Parts: sequence; structure tokens; C-alpha cells
Amino acid sequence: MTALTAAAMMVAGLVAGCGGGGSPAADSKEIKVGGNFELTGGVATFGQSTANGIKLAFKEANAAGGVIGKQIVFITADNKSEPSESTNATTKLITQDKVVAVLGAVASTNTLAAVQVATDNKIPLLTATSTNPKVTFDNGKVREYVFRSCFIDPFQGTVMANFATKSLKAKTAAIYTDNSSDYSKGLTEVFEKTFTQLGGKVVAKEAFLQKDQDFKATLTKLKAAGAEVIYIPAYYEEVGRIIKQPRELGITVPLLGTDGWDSPKLAEIAGAAALNNGYFSNHYSPEDKDPKVVKFVEAYKKEYNQTPDALAALGYDSALLLMDAIKRAGSAEPAKNKDALAATKNLQLVSGVITLDERHDPVKSAVIIELKDGKQVFKEKVNP
Ligand code: PHE
Repeated sequence: MTALTAAAMMVAGLVAGCGGGGSPAADSKEIKVGGNFELTGGVATFGQSTANGIKLAFKEANAAGGVIGKQIVFITADNKSEPSESTNATTKLITQDKVVAVLGAVASTNTLAAVQVATDNKIPLLTATSTNPKVTFDNGKVREYVFRSCFIDPFQGTVMANFATKSLKAKTAAIYTDNSSDYSKGLTEVFEKTFTQLGGKVVAKEAFLQKDQDFKATLTKLKAAGAEVIYIPAYYEEVGRIIKQPRELGITVPLLGTDGWDSPKLAEIAGAAALNNGYFSNHYSPEDKDPKVVKFVEAYKKEYNQTPDALAALGYDSALLLMDAIKRAGSAEPAKNKDALAATKNLQLVSGVITLDERHDPVKSAVIIELKDGKQVFKEKVNP
């Protein structure tokens, strides 16, 4: 072997060592961030919007010189809207792509399927959208490596129970739950408890499963119970298919929902007319005149030619939150970053001001959206 080939082999070895190495090289010019998202499957518009919001935030930051002088490289993995795939996607991002943090997933059940992988590998996980309390806090303990930048379901469920009793003057309610989702089951409990505390009565409770097609038999039972409002805490695919039917069955009472209704697909599936007299709680409205919202809506429209839904806004905010933590830590090292995330304070973002509490949850306002001929109309803002 000549000295030259030996030297060449050493260089090749170094380069290979760098690309496949253990921890991300401290002097790397890049910061790799993973995105575990529902890019296909049952809630695909959720994952796509959230990822688009994140990409816009990173693009703007990279154009302005990056974060701590480094460019952010965002690597997405599709969890196909399935919990087991969410575990796989997170494992791949952490062990193969060597990301320093994971953003996602959207749906609480899918994020819950990823928290253990992040925890075991000591990589911070930040979800922009998962609202179930168990995501960050379980068995009386905060999950050290898991954070969120949205409000939680005990707040969201209370907002709707209040709206039903105070604004709609409802005294009776029925609840139609998606039993395949932690999110839906959690919201059912909160709504029932609050509505009852406010003097109302839940007169019927029924359940369905994701991918169900026919809801007529159950809806007929719900109709017979004669509730003044029907609460459906679920995601747009099923909600769309469900909502088509009550109107066909002559159920005309207000239908109430949750952030999971926020998709351009909802009106496509249900039909615009069926959604009239429908209201849901959400994280933000693109109609908000707050200058931060106006600026974001403009930039997003320019980039994607679409009005950003709440997921896009929350995704954008989660990327800003992560970059803020990296800046304060002065490093993208996961352990330092985790501490900086936990210390997030008074961060002014599109969907509100974020201070993370001791459970790694922010306290934020919600909005109520009314559906009118398939369009989302901003009804009111509710502060915590
Ligand atoms: N909050 C939902 C969940 O936890 C996800 C979601 C957020 C859906 C925002 C739509 C809009 O499963």
C-alpha cells in the first residue's frame, strides 16, 4: 500500500465516520430536525399542513443566516396516520437520520406511540398539535423529553361545554365518541363533566371506530334521545361522513366539535350545507387581525397559495419555539436543548404567547369557529 492510498483511505474513513457517526458532530454546519407526521392516511391534511408550517419557519430562518450560525435541515418521515408507524418513523429519524429533536406527531394517539422512543434515546420531542394531557404528563410525572406548544383538551372541552350552555342555551347534550382515539375519549370525559357541572344533562352517549362507514343506526338512537346539541370530538374524515347523515335523518340541532374538524376536506366530505349550524373549538383563526397572524397568513399564502389552517400556524410556531430554545441553549445538543425547551417563557408566536408550565404545556387561548356554507367564520376568542 502506498502512502497515498493509505492517506486516501483515512480521509474516506473520516468522512464515512462523520455521516454515520454516533452523536451529531458539534462542528457540523447543519442542525438536523426530524418531523414525524401524518403525511398520508386518515388524517393526511393534518400532517401536511403542520409540516408546511414548519418548513416555512425553517426556510425563513435559514435565509436569515440560520440558528446559532447553522442551517436547519428538516427531515420528515410519514407515519401514515397509524400509531405503530409513528413509533417506526420516530425510531428511524433518531437512529438513522441522527436528528437532534423530533417535531410531531399531530394526532395524540400517534404522538403517544412516539414518546417512549424519544425518551429512551434522550431526544426532545415537541408536538405542535397533540392536545391529550397524557402526551406530556403520565402516571403523576412529567415526561422529561416531551413538550407541546398547543393548549390541552381539558381546556378545549370546557370551552365547548361553556359555549353550549351559555351561548346556545342548551340544557341537554348527546356525545358521539371515536373509541379508537385517546383524544376523543379524553374530550368526551371533559365535556360531560363540565356540561353537567354547568347544570346540563348528557342524555345519550354513543361511540364509533375510525374507518366506520355507516352511522345511521346510532344516529337514529341519538335523534330519539332528543338532545339539544350533539358533541362529536373527532377527526374530519369520520366527522365528515357522520355529519352528512344527521341532516339526512332530519336532525337539525347544532353539531359541536373540536380542533379535529379543521380540514379543507371536512366540507368536501360532508357537503357544505350539512355543516351549517356546526361549531368547533380551534387554536387560531386566519381572520384574526393580530399583526403576527396577518404577517404569517401573508407569508404562507405566498409560499403555498393556500390559507393556513390552525395546523399550519401551530406547526410554524413549534419550529419557532424549537429554534428559540436552541438559541438560548447556544447549542443543538439534545440534553441542553431539553432544558432550554422547559424554560420557554413569554414567547410571542402566531397562535399566542407561550410560557411552558411544569408539565411542559402552554396556557393559551382558543377560538370558536362557526361553519357557514362550508366556510369557517371566526365567532369568538376564549381566554384561559
Ligand atoms: N388535537 C388533535 C389531537 O390531539 C390534533 C389536531 C390539532 C387536529 C389541531 C386538528 C387541529 O389529536
